[in-house]
Amino acid sequence: MSAPGGTCRKEIEMRPYVICHMLSTVDGKIDSAALKAVTGKDEYEATGAKLQGDAWVCGRTTMQQHFAEDEPFVSASNTPAGPQPVYVARRAKSYAVSIDTLGKLRWSDCDLDGDHLICVVSERVPEDYLPMLRERGISYIVSGASSVDLVQAVNLLGQYFGIRTLLLEGGGHINGAFLQADLIDEVSLLVVPGIDGRHDIPAVFDGVSPAKNAAVPLKLKSVEQRESDTLWIRYEVVRS
Ligand SMILES: NC(=O)c1ccc[n+]([C@@H]2O[C@H](COP(=O)([O-])OP(=O)(O)OC[C@H]3O[C@@H](n4cnc5c(N)ncnc54)[C@H](OP(=O)(O)O)[C@@H]3O)[C@@H](O)[C@H]2O)c1
Repeated sequence: MSAPGGTCRKEIEMRPYVICHMLSTVDGKIDSAALKAVTGKDEYEATGAKLQGDAWVCGRTTMQQHFAEDEPFVSASNTPAGPQPVYVARRAKSYAVSIDTLGKLRWSDCDLDGDHLICVVSERVPEDYLPMLRERGISYIVSGASSVDLVQAVNLLGQYFGIRTLLLEGGGHINGAFLQADLIDEVSLLVVPGIDGRHDIPAVFDGVSPAKNAAVPLKLKSVEQRESDTLWIRYEVVRS
């Protein structure tokens, strides 16, 4: 355990392979509630298992919707923690990773679906948030002064926890941030037989800067047609 400094060569070499694994309608929308009606039972999880990740990561909104306690964490001090060492509560076979800039999520357990929880927060996290995580046996990484430094955080996941394959599992805004940080190696997309069509629903990749007006090129790796009429499409990200 040591303080995260600048990204060094060793950290770059240890960066996990990142696969963005998502389920979407044919118009690219990802609202889990709407998708239920047109998705086979366990199709997303069963397909994800084939990717053999040793960790999965989600943005704060998705973690709040599906995994964290309903009520947010309320700080008694509101004093920013500033730079902090990585805290490894324990090493595990598989991990769940939450990206939560300000430490808003409240957790009751150190495991999610049997995977050891790692909270990634920024230096703006309140100082009393971190002892709360330690008391519950939850690991954490503090990275980035004002927002989470995703490149450094992903490197630290490899370096401190030995994560080799990281499944990026949404939602759209955290996927967009990983894309913009050039952290995605592969896209695994389950296109279900359904159309959403609503304007305000997040897409598979969302929130990317408007200045980035050229699509990221992909190379087709495989396509599988399921009996459920779902297509499983895998693409590699092409880097120049
Ligand atoms: N179909 C699927 O496969 C699938 C999978 C997962 C989720 N979903 C759906 O996706 C929807 C949620 O997606 P979403 O796009 O609204 O939220 P999201 O990507 O789950 O979370 C976005 C949040 O992550 C935090 N974050 C931390 N660092 C960030 C960074 N560098 N860049 C961007 N965000 C960062 C931010 O929280 P702060 O504001 O605290 O900084 C941000 O508001 C839900 O409807 C969920 O059900 C679908």
